Amino acid sequence: MISSRTWTKELLRELIETHLGGVRFIVVSNREPHMHRYGEGGDLECIETTGGLATALRPILAATKGTWIAHGAGNADRDTADENGRLAVPPQNPSYTLRRVWLTPEQEEGYYYGFANEGLWPLCHIAFKRPVFRMANWESYREVNRLFAQAVIEEAGTSPAIIFIQDYHFCLLPRMLKELGHEKLVVAQFWHIPWPNPEMFRPCPWAQELVEGLLGNDLLGFHIQNHCQNFFETVDRSLEAMIDREGCQITRGGHVTSVRSFPISIDFEAAEALSSSAEVEAAMEKWRRRLRLGDRLLGVGIERLDYTKGIPERLRALDYFIETHPEWRGRFTFVQIAAPSRSHLPEYQAVEDEIEGLVDHLNWRWGRGGWQPVVFQKQQHGPVDMTALHRLCRFFIVNSLHDGMNLVAKEFAASRTDNDGVLILSRFTGAFRELDTALGVNPFAIHETANAIHQALTMEPEERGHRMKGMRQKVAYNNVYRWAGSILSQLLKLDIPETSHGS
Ligand code: F6P
Repeated sequence: MISSRTWTKELLRELIETHLGGVRFIVVSNREPHMHRYGEGGDLECIETTGGLATALRPILAATKGTWIAHGAGNADRDTADENGRLAVPPQNPSYTLRRVWLTPEQEEGYYYGFANEGLWPLCHIAFKRPVFRMANWESYREVNRLFAQAVIEEAGTSPAIIFIQDYHFCLLPRMLKELGHEKLVVAQFWHIPWPNPEMFRPCPWAQELVEGLLGNDLLGFHIQNHCQNFFETVDRSLEAMIDREGCQITRGGHVTSVRSFPISIDFEAAEALSSSAEVEAAMEKWRRRLRLGDRLLGVGIERLDYTKGIPERLRALDYFIETHPEWRGRFTFVQIAAPSRSHLPEYQAVEDEIEGLVDHLNWRWGRGGWQPVVFQKQQHGPVDMTALHRLCRFFIVNSLHDGMNLVAKEFAASRTDNDGVLILSRFTGAFRELDTALGVNPFAIHETANAIHQALTMEPEERGHRMKGMRQKVAYNNVYRWAGSILSQLLKLDIPETSHGS
């Protein structure tokens, strides 16, 4: 069913209309696709928070009149939903239902900040941060998974439904759904972060319960095959189950979970179109002026402010590069954009302080006569501003210490319709498996990143073009519609009860 043609929104819609008649589609994620909040001055704002994921899932939700269930976290979310937490979205062109689940501050603290982001996040990323496991957080995590299970059952009613769960916030949900005895549910989950090897997973006191919960899925997806292998090994060490690595499935208590890789991606065509727009041209001009760029070359890094992204390592690499390549002093500028994220947690505050300290140090050590090597902006920028930076830069750095995929790298390649610009990419990202003509680096080896910066600044245009073309072809082909289409095609091979699928 997977086409060798380029996947498009239309092809995805065709697949749904032909094969998913009568099936409801329910997406579950922690982060809601549309959040309402009161801005400064009390104005009501609606922000799209899940970006590419919402773009890919919208055609499926629209065609199946589906529902997206998520935590209502905005301060105006209650005022904009009905008494059951429901509203039609996207606001400009409503095509599916958003069902918001309300959590108390204690539940959010224990389940989201606590167990998911102080426990599972460092456990799975292997970024040398100690995971924190507190009994109270585990209890909140279980409680919130149960709340979401109730919401799914309410939304599914008695009709056949596909439940598509996102990420590490909901390890227990699949099993809970199966135990609630709704026989017409097909449950799938996509794990957006890495799955570590069994030794790294072992410190979690509830490792077995998590794995048991995930095996409630009919289909479990990871970004890359290596994460699937790690999951097989973890199951092997944690509980009694029949593991068929060749057939990509695990059988436990008579129930089969199919485990496969589906590398997530972006809407390549939309990113290209944005990149060629007049708004982006205007934003490039604005950046040029703001940065007083002149004929200096530009380096850029854009991400959430997260310790897994390797920002301090990148700044140390820049410091080493300037020290060892005096000929480049004053001839380039590096812009680091970091969107505040989970800043409530001590490890996130610590990395922010570390970054600010390193930026100050670099600019103090090397700044001369109006030139400062690093411009640091701790704020969220919109797609137009970010695309303008993609287009303006000579090199773009993604040196995550570990990353499931990294869509920022793919966005950079999509923006470079001129087949120029150099991507410096951590070999420890899922994206490096596809973007293998990027300059690969071990993010922990400062000298390697420094050498890559030098290589990027001195690379001939032909080589830049050749490398960029290779990356762009990969992203154009493996776009987000292929990701969603591949998952749906795999689901359709499973037995979906009482539907017209395959007819
Ligand atoms: O990469 C995992 C992930 O959960 C993404 O799905 C999400 O975009 C990102 O982390 C941001 O996380 P949060 O929703 O906690 O801000």
